[in-house]
Amino acid sequence: MHSQGRRAAGQARVRGVPQWPLLLWLMGLLCAAAVLCDPTLATVTPSAPDAAAPGVSNAQRAWQHWTLNCQGCHRPDGTGSEGTAPGLAQTVGRFLRVPGGREYLGRVPGVAASPLSDADLAEVLNWMLWRFDAADVPAAFVPYTALEVGHLRSQPLRMEAARVRRHLLEKAERSSVR
Ligand code: HEC
Repeated sequence: MHSQGRRAAGQARVRGVPQWPLLLWLMGLLCAAAVLCDPTLATVTPSAPDAAAPGVSNAQRAWQHWTLNCQGCHRPDGTGSEGTAPGLAQTVGRFLRVPGGREYLGRVPGVAASPLSDADLAEVLNWMLWRFDAADVPAAFVPYTALEVGHLRSQPLRMEAARVRRHLLEKAERSSVR
C-alpha cells in the first residue's frame, strides 16, 4: 500500500517532466523573437515628422536604407559608436549652417561610398536630417536631390575627412545662433 503510493507519486512526477522542456523551448522562442524584433529598432520607427519631411517621398523606405547601410556604424538612433562613427543626433544639422557643410555631408566616405543609388542616398540624407536633428536644420534648407548627391559623391573625401569635419564644426561653433 505504502510502496504503491510512492510509485503513484513517482509516476505523477514522471508525467510532469515533459512540460519542462516544452516551457524551456517556449522561453527560447520568446527570446529569439525578442532579438529578431530588436526593441531598439522599434524606437526609431519613422514617426510623424518623417512622414511630412521635404525630400523624403517614402519614410519607411528611407528608414530601411538607413537600417541596412548606416546604422551599423551610427547606431539605430543616430547616437554614434565610440571610436567608430560620430553621433548624428542633435548635431548633423549644424553642418548645414556653415559654408562647405552641405557638401561635406554628401562627400563624407560613409555616405559617398554607400551602395545606395543617388536617389536613395539623397532620400536617406534628407530623412536623417529631419529624423535626428530637425531643430538644427536651417529654415531655408533645400532638400538634397539625386543630381546633387551624385555630383558630391563623385568627389569623396578620403584621408582629409576628419580634418574637414573638425574645421566645419569649429566654424559651426563660432557662428552658433543658439
Ligand atoms: C563604416 C562605418 C560607417 C558607415 C557604414 C556609415 N558611416 Fe557615416 N560616418 C562614419 C565616420 C567614421 C564618420 C566621420 C567622418 C569620417 O572620418 O569619415 C561619418 C560621418 C558621417 C556624416 C557627417 C557627420 C559628422 O558628424 O561628421 C554623415 C551625415 C554620415 N556619416 C551619414 C551616414 C549615412 C547616411 C550612412 C549610410 C548611407 C553612413 N553614414 C554610413 C562612419 C560610417
